[in-house]
Amino acid sequence: MCGIVGYIGSSKAQDILVEGLKKLEYRGYDSAGVAVYNGGRLEVVKAKGRLAELEGKLEAAPLSGTIGIGHTRWATHGKPSDVNSHPHVDNERKISVVHNGIIENYIALKEELIERGHRFVSETDTEVISHLIADLYEGDIVRAVQAAVKRLRGAYALGVIAEEEPDKLVAVRNASPLIIGVGDGENFIGSDIPAVLPHTRDIYILKDGEMAVLTRNGVELFTLEGNIISRELFHVDWDLTTAEKGGYDHFMLKEIHEQPKAYRDTMGSRITEDGKRVVMNEVKMTADELRTIRHVHIVACGTAYHAGLVGKNVIERLARIPVEADVASEYRYRAPIISKETLVIVVSQSGETADTLAALREAQRQGARVIAITNVVGSSVAREADDVITTWAGPEIAVASTKAYTSQLIAFYLFGLYLTQTLETQEPAMIEEAITALRALPEQVETLLGQADTVKAFAEKIANHDDLFFIGRGLDYAVAQEGSLKLKEISYIHSEAYASGELKHGTLALIEDGVPVIALATQQELFEKTLSNIKEVTARGAYVMGIAPEGDQELAKSVDEVITIPRTLGLLTPALSVVPLQLLAYYASLARGNDVDKPRNLAKSVTVE
Ligand code: F6R
Repeated sequence: MCGIVGYIGSSKAQDILVEGLKKLEYRGYDSAGVAVYNGGRLEVVKAKGRLAELEGKLEAAPLSGTIGIGHTRWATHGKPSDVNSHPHVDNERKISVVHNGIIENYIALKEELIERGHRFVSETDTEVISHLIADLYEGDIVRAVQAAVKRLRGAYALGVIAEEEPDKLVAVRNASPLIIGVGDGENFIGSDIPAVLPHTRDIYILKDGEMAVLTRNGVELFTLEGNIISRELFHVDWDLTTAEKGGYDHFMLKEIHEQPKAYRDTMGSRITEDGKRVVMNEVKMTADELRTIRHVHIVACGTAYHAGLVGKNVIERLARIPVEADVASEYRYRAPIISKETLVIVVSQSGETADTLAALREAQRQGARVIAITNVVGSSVAREADDVITTWAGPEIAVASTKAYTSQLIAFYLFGLYLTQTLETQEPAMIEEAITALRALPEQVETLLGQADTVKAFAEKIANHDDLFFIGRGLDYAVAQEGSLKLKEISYIHSEAYASGELKHGTLALIEDGVPVIALATQQELFEKTLSNIKEVTARGAYVMGIAPEGDQELAKSVDEVITIPRTLGLLTPALSVVPLQLLAYYASLARGNDVDKPRNLAKSVTVE
């Protein structure tokens, strides 16, 4: 979840590193630093806080060197501080290291190195790496790094430079993402593609257990044992501006508005031209193999898990296969019953979430076939799963996930329908009806975004409250959980999501005059029951915003504000009803003066357990 960047060439490394770190700041942002070979020695400049702090220091005392490494940090070992920031160095400042991930055996290594005379200044696990490499260094940085990583246990992506070899930048990957950008007379490393995109579109994606040695004139890839690897360059054809705010005040708002496009792109060529069937070429399982599935497990974290709750509903209702949905951090430890007849679907925007990756591996270990729904091509999850359904949401920069979540819903609808048509559990006419409704969603989201002002007004009224509730039944409950998470993470208002029917079993005690409640009532067959639950809270003075299907006459009479969502199939309503909840979280966060795109204590990609 931290960001790494590295440069070797003939330009001023400092500027390229800072520019790259800006593109990665969303990955971690409690401190940042650079190390540059400058005037015959390694100079390190670090600053706690946002990147601007580091920029200030570098402006005051610029470094002119042309090789360097940089890092933005999201603290794991040791609090955010200048000294805990990366890059780290050894006592002689001969070796400098940036690191993403966690070194599990760092305490034992630290004790050993202290005995050998090394002095440590930070609380980090990373500092042991710079000392260890320095300890093993005998004039060849590549060999020293190879020897050092043999001693490391855990996850790491590393960028390393040595004072005595200012013509080499060494990169290593083990369970933390790292890419190499190949330029003309200059080369780059990055924990993510946007870091190098202003300079090159030709990249190598390192795999676990691989390293790269970059000089000004070339890049060589090796296994950790030193065997040369030959690999084709991957040409990135993304437009860099897609990773920028595009005129919106925040990435989150931009990404909310990008949802119609994300829906269209994710459906893309997966629907036949006549609109009758779903095509999933990326799912390699044959029809016979799909027919052997007896149970499905959906495993993910946070927002992706909430998409999984909808996915469970879709698969059970359409394909009539029992589905369990689990948060990934619990899955492995509850001894799940997995067999060859289990299909495990892991969902991850980033494709790098440690818990999700661990669940994937455990499922495969026990013989399950794993399908990944992910937004990042070439991510760890995408590489390790047996089949991959890519969501084409494009890069998501805001920490709060919006378009990735809704694209995951679209992926579940498509896969659910694909499974259904293969297993023939529904009439073809039903599948056709669902596809027609799916295709209408992008335009319906556009209409829905037109009600942003009503949501904004409500958000401003509730922004000073400390607690609020989201209620709903069935799919509305699944969406309520996502709405509640979104609000908490960016507005810092405490909220709870409840199945409406559960309120009277305890939570109703918390409802008093003026407590805000967001009530979802989009499910036709549950409408009457939900309405009774809403009346239970209005009778106790709650201030209610209802979400109802277009044309509603009933709910509007019982609540303070109402947002209507365009008519669609009950199963598809989450792809619409979540949109006002995303806007509610956004405007509440804005009204409270929070940093919408970078909420406190959170990071975009969580690559530690
Ligand atoms: C919330 C959010 C997180 C992520 C979760 C999983 O807005 O973004 O809850 O959904 O950390 O991340 P991925 O999908 O990258 O595995």
